[in-house]
Amino acid sequence: MSVVGEIKIDGLKKIKSGKVREMFLYEDMLLIVTTDRISAFDYILPSLIPYKGAILNKISNFWFSYLEAVIKNHLLETDFNKFPDIFKKYEDILKDRSVLVKKANIYPIECVVRGYITGSGWEEYKKSGAIGDITLPEGLKLCEKLPEPLFTPTTKADVGHDMLLTLQEAKNRFGSEIILFLQNKSIELYARAADFALEKGIIIADTKFEFGEIDGDIILVDEVLTPDSSRFWPLEDYKEGYQQKSYDKQYVRDYLLSTDWDRNSLPPELPEDVVQMTSRRYITAYEKLTGKKF
Ligand SMILES: Nc1ncnc2c1ncn2[C@@H]1O[C@H](COP(=O)(O)OP(=O)(O)OP(=O)(O)O)[C@@H](O)[C@H]1O
Ligand SMILES: [Mg+2]
Repeated sequence: MSVVGEIKIDGLKKIKSGKVREMFLYEDMLLIVTTDRISAFDYILPSLIPYKGAILNKISNFWFSYLEAVIKNHLLETDFNKFPDIFKKYEDILKDRSVLVKKANIYPIECVVRGYITGSGWEEYKKSGAIGDITLPEGLKLCEKLPEPLFTPTTKADVGHDMLLTLQEAKNRFGSEIILFLQNKSIELYARAADFALEKGIIIADTKFEFGEIDGDIILVDEVLTPDSSRFWPLEDYKEGYQQKSYDKQYVRDYLLSTDWDRNSLPPELPEDVVQMTSRRYITAYEKLTGKKF
């Protein structure tokens, strides 16, 4: 399997290149390709992580299938061998890392669910004792498990950072009925997945879902419950009151913090051992979660 940083497919229009994934329009469908790019501190790093794209794609597909009992999803084909013939000559760069999906009308809201208090949620809580319009108990510690998973949606910004939406703002924008639906589904999806992952030794601290509409149905789209859209923490190292180790990016962050990179310019290359250890972490996460060998 090649290590892949950027994708070009003759005759297909690339409609989006995110930090990690690239989307192509194919007839009335989308081809989503997960590259081996990695980001940290909001930068795409110049190094690629072997197998990362395939692992993330497989993790997401695993969850789509696991969560089908809760909601339908956008997947049309996950098996490269069954892709239309025009893709055949791209086997080396597409196999295992691509899916064909239904193109949906996306609700422009990031459905964030938090099971533990950390990151921007923790910053909000320290300032105001609340996240958006949800008041929290006093005295929570950093990374503490919340009494119940919280739905803390944000805008979907084209450029710059997503902004927290209060539930009231979200209802004003999208209507109460739809927000209640997205809230209930998001919390149920998170809770089911987090319970499952915990049994496998992984805490999913928080995550983000996206939903879309197609033929009158609301379906789950984008990627689900990967380390790129969620915080994965190793259960064995979990300790409330402290910053947690990231399951996947810990070596990357530790390395970058050990350099003199100012986080305000292009980041440096990762050393080969950091690349290899990080690649291993993704593989381990996949194997732990799914019980399958990669
Ligand atoms: N089934 C679908 N139909 C239509 N659009 C989709 C579907 N699934 C995902 N998308 C959209 O494709 C885009 C994927 O972009 P991507 O996640 O790669 O980049 P990003 O969200 O801009 O940035 P980041 O790399 O930080 O996530 C998102 O805007 C998402 O809403
Ligand atoms: Mg995204």
